[in-house]
Amino acid sequence: MNKSVIRVGIIGAGNVGGALVALLRDPTRREALLDAATGPIELVGVAVRDVAKRRKDVPNDLLTSDAAGLVGLDGLDILVELAGGLKPARGYIETALRHGVSVVTANKALMAECGTELAQLAHQNGADLFYEAAVGGGVPILRALRTSLAGERIDRVMGIVNGTTNFILSKMTSEGSDYASALKEAQALGYAEADPSADVEGYDAAAKVQILSSLAFGTALQGEEIFRQGINGVRSVDVDFAHRSGYVIKLLGIAERVGESGISRRAHPAMIPVDHPLASVNGAMNAVFVEGVRSGPLMWLGQGAGGEPTATAVLGDLLDAARNRFSGRHDVPFTVDTSLQSVPYGELESVFYISIDVLDRPGVLAAVAGIFGDNGVSIQSMEQSGFGDEARLAFLTHMAVADRANATVKALAQHPSVDRIGACIRVIDGGRA
Ligand SMILES: NC(=O)c1ccc[n+]([C@@H]2O[C@H](COP(=O)([O-])OP(=O)(O)OC[C@H]3O[C@@H](n4cnc5c(N)ncnc54)[C@H](OP(=O)(O)O)[C@@H]3O)[C@@H](O)[C@H]2O)c1
Repeated sequence: MNKSVIRVGIIGAGNVGGALVALLRDPTRREALLDAATGPIELVGVAVRDVAKRRKDVPNDLLTSDAAGLVGLDGLDILVELAGGLKPARGYIETALRHGVSVVTANKALMAECGTELAQLAHQNGADLFYEAAVGGGVPILRALRTSLAGERIDRVMGIVNGTTNFILSKMTSEGSDYASALKEAQALGYAEADPSADVEGYDAAAKVQILSSLAFGTALQGEEIFRQGINGVRSVDVDFAHRSGYVIKLLGIAERVGESGISRRAHPAMIPVDHPLASVNGAMNAVFVEGVRSGPLMWLGQGAGGEPTATAVLGDLLDAARNRFSGRHDVPFTVDTSLQSVPYGELESVFYISIDVLDRPGVLAAVAGIFGDNGVSIQSMEQSGFGDEARLAFLTHMAVADRANATVKALAQHPSVDRIGACIRVIDGGRA
């Protein structure tokens, strides 16, 4: 049946939902939206928790507190889920898809948890499931992977996909701030939540890596745990060392091929050379760097968060889904490549930066160097700094397997001359982690 109008319901009118409603109602963009969607879009309702809350962008007559009712509305074509969280968002999305309603969401946690299942449900019911804003906010990287690079063999996707941690690390780098004060500033400016753990412990970046990897390599989205290390252990001394050695510390989300059938997905702080394109991505900005076999290196850069930038990505999805509805088709979800095997983090080789606080007494250096040797990790360079309570040793290793580097750190922690382990950070040299 030919459609004359696409009926859209939105759940959530917060930072992103409110901005999306404003974009949809902007009279100066009416013609552009009509062209892009290939027909008119009607916003039929916006579900929120509290309808009494004053909202500048959403007219009261569109608001409802009955999200389930909106999802079940007869003739609904597209549901936009912008409430966040796993529950009840998952239930609403599943119900919509089962009824053949296309879904647009920005919910990275949900997509990482059960994206493959939801995508199959969408396909079975002739609906679309789009989630561009789930990675990189306003940076349109997912569609680029899904369409422009669909035929390319990608070797690696590496991104600064969490603005909060990039803001903190940039402050530590450019102003010499320590971690605690940089975090405080991020919280004061609204870049970090009161409980920042999802960001600083790498959970958010890990969910985004899963999503990037699914589109770049065909790995499934089914709540699999991947290696994750946060930035809360990074100290200003580490940032200084990186600077003196020609590196910058960034929290990177990485998905890359290992050999013919291996795949590594991880989120962790890394030292990257100052001349790497990602090294100059500062503040709350996001960027994704893609290495394709034939395309060579590519990079997308932009605002990874914020109501308006994120809403533009959501709007792009919405227009795409509307266009599909008008033409009576839907996109096919990505194919899961079951031949790919996850390579455990511990088996990956890299140069490592390891820093330790030590007791300032003779013989310590020899003892510590012996521990590296006992664990099969060879030292590329060493720097000794500070005196007394401040005595510190920093090492760059040669290429070492992560399990060996971790065993070295464990043994160092038990040695009586070692006061405290500082950091153990992978070094990405010449573009290879
Ligand atoms: N903010 C960003 O920069 C950004 C960037 C990328 C992706 N995202 C993703 O976008 C989504 C929305 O984020 P946001 O920042 O806009 O969140 P937000 O400001 O907290 O807004 C959430 C909205 O959802 C509504 N809501 C929450 N639970 C609901 C429920 N059970 N039923 C009905 N409405 C409900 C809230 O209603 P009330 O207003 O009545 O409380 C609010 O309007 C999340 O998945 C987030 O991860 C956000």
